[in-house]
Amino acid sequence: MSRNGEKPVRLLIRDLSQVASPAGLTAPVRGSELRAIDLVEDAYILCEDGLIADVGPMRQLPRLDDDVVEVDGRGLSAVPGLVDCHTHACFAGDRVDEFSARAAGATYEELHAKGGGILSTVRATREAGEEGLTMALSRHQAWMLRAGTTTFEAKSGYGLDHDTELAQLRVIKDAGGVPTWLGAHAVPPEFADAGADSYLDFLIQDVLPEAALVAEQADVFLERGAFDVEQARRVLVAARSAGLELRLHGDQFTEAGAIPLAVELAARSVDHLESTGPGGVAALSSSAVVGVLLPASALFLGRPMPPARALADAGAAIALATDFNPGSAFCESLPTVCALAATQLRLAPEEALAACTVNAAHVLSRADRKGRLARGFDADIVLVAAHDWRYLAYHLGGDVVHTVVRGGRIVSTARA
Ligand code: NIG
Ligand code: FE
Repeated sequence: MSRNGEKPVRLLIRDLSQVASPAGLTAPVRGSELRAIDLVEDAYILCEDGLIADVGPMRQLPRLDDDVVEVDGRGLSAVPGLVDCHTHACFAGDRVDEFSARAAGATYEELHAKGGGILSTVRATREAGEEGLTMALSRHQAWMLRAGTTTFEAKSGYGLDHDTELAQLRVIKDAGGVPTWLGAHAVPPEFADAGADSYLDFLIQDVLPEAALVAEQADVFLERGAFDVEQARRVLVAARSAGLELRLHGDQFTEAGAIPLAVELAARSVDHLESTGPGGVAALSSSAVVGVLLPASALFLGRPMPPARALADAGAAIALATDFNPGSAFCESLPTVCALAATQLRLAPEEALAACTVNAAHVLSRADRKGRLARGFDADIVLVAAHDWRYLAYHLGGDVVHTVVRGGRIVSTARA
């Protein structure tokens, strides 16, 4: 009997070609641990009451009574449900016109400076209202789920006013996402004359107290044309006092001090790092801060890739995420990100897997229950449509996600 006295819901995935899961039980994994995978061939996974009850080879499958839903895993392999620890999935509208303008030569920073870019999504998001935003996120969440993402973080930062920032956070939380407050994403037009510092005063006094009741984390866009180190420190220190974990968008276009600040404030992560040089690699590697790499964003904007190999070799804790947003990374697929990691970042498929499962779960403070296929963990599972789990990274842009299980229930499966 389950905890609530009902018959337990049991799901048996049997005859899997492989089950692959980051080895060990600690998080984050770094150095040689980053490539250590527990691999079971000809395997089963048993889920009970939303949790992993057992993983093992078929020859050790115990006799089970009839009260089990069985899934035929022949020709498939299993990895942990993917964890996307950096998205901006709660947005309205799109930026397809801007995409065309960039294809014709305009740069992302130029569009931003002219009031396009982030601010054009702010206009659409303010207009959508809470109901419109709920519908938009639900659409984006369905895309993410089909791509194997069973846990996602999403940021505010397209409201930049009291009501819309809070609406974004509520919508993300209600959808089961991990909400991050990114009020300091850009200076909104109504503060253009008063300036960035006045906007931050408003954020800290009028938005943060309520945002902190919904959000789990706070983030700041530390960049030329956005916020500088002093401004970022002010927001993050206030956010920490309000009980939030800290994140940073840093070194996307310039090295403007994000890594030293992240280390100083013991942030959970610093994300992007396309412009990080050897000093930043060394500082991050000797810290507890996770470097979150977003290769789809670098690809989408035609930017250099982050120094992933140097970070991994120096022992940094790294994670991978999509950065899913309408402007710099219109891509919700972590399998695509794993393919970019293997082809562009020179990470092994094993390293890529750990980076978007256990280490991403650590960034979201959920590594005790997400990111591994081990007894007692949440039964969040991706069945890869191949006999070898490495197709996750190998099949670039391929239809690699066959079935997605979340909380022990099938939530997405390939059309027959
Ligand atoms: O992570 N760089 C800042 N923010 C986002 C992009 C947001 C947008 O362009 O709408 C990013 O790339
Ligand atoms: Fe981002």
